[in-house]
Amino acid sequence: MPRPTIPELRARADRGEPLVMLTAYDATFARLCEAAGVDFLLVGDSVGMTLLGHASTVPVTMEDMLHHTRAVVRATTSAHVVCDLPFLSYHTGEDEAVRNAGRALQDAGAQSVKFEGGARWAPFVQRCTEAGIPIMGHIGLRPQQSSLLGGYPAQGRTSEAAERLVQDAVALEEAGAWALLLEKMPVEVAQAITQTVRIPTIGIGSGPHCRGQVQVMHDLLGLDEQFRPRHAGRYADLAAPIRDAFARYADDVRRGAFPGDAQSVRGGESLAAFRAARTDTATGETTRTGEERAS
Ligand code: KIV
Repeated sequence: MPRPTIPELRARADRGEPLVMLTAYDATFARLCEAAGVDFLLVGDSVGMTLLGHASTVPVTMEDMLHHTRAVVRATTSAHVVCDLPFLSYHTGEDEAVRNAGRALQDAGAQSVKFEGGARWAPFVQRCTEAGIPIMGHIGLRPQQSSLLGGYPAQGRTSEAAERLVQDAVALEEAGAWALLLEKMPVEVAQAITQTVRIPTIGIGSGPHCRGQVQVMHDLLGLDEQFRPRHAGRYADLAAPIRDAFARYADDVRRGAFPGDAQSVRGGESLAAFRAARTDTATGETTRTGEERAS
């Protein structure tokens, strides 16, 4: 099955078929997502926390995003791949912003680009759209603003703030955004936005009324025992079994139980001459090299 195009994804959303999105940052997990029938893969700037060990998305660079997007694109054939624009990659000038958005398609092979921002970014969205760069807006909680917000609080919790989010959504749609990601806002606000715009809304922590849902894969799989947002649900608890597998492996290596015969190759008859040449004639023992003795 080829990757779904934007008209196809929009048609599915219009028919009431929920769109399914997960983050993916590498080839192995991208393949698993695709095999599970996930429609879109978001190479999110959450890669900063999930894979790169940063405390926030702020240190993530455009080069990081291109590197991980290439891996996801190489590993997949039937998912629509969205590349996130990281902190400062679209803030310092519109030309640079459009160029970086284009690099996600041209250099990394993504099918769409996502950025965080509301109505104030309409001119950028318009220029991307005119250039043929499909763009997804991201409103509500914008994690790149975490320094200003003092963390990751839900957004749109007053009538004024909720109304501003609806206006942001409308402005981005009018500028040409083909979809909107709605992060961590009250259910009623996400529902109002979904009813107001014609483009698909993809929610995270924003309730069930969006036309699709996205989650950070690591949250869904329970890979971080210290961080488990409520909105991710509990689809797996993989941290403990993975840690247990690593611990059993370490223990087996230390007590000489790994590798065993099943994990080793024996030369058999084909190595008879080799074995004979290395047998100490005086003691009958196999001669060992210095390296082997040291190990
Ligand atoms: O970077 C990311 O993972 C995101 C999430 C909100 C899905 O943007």
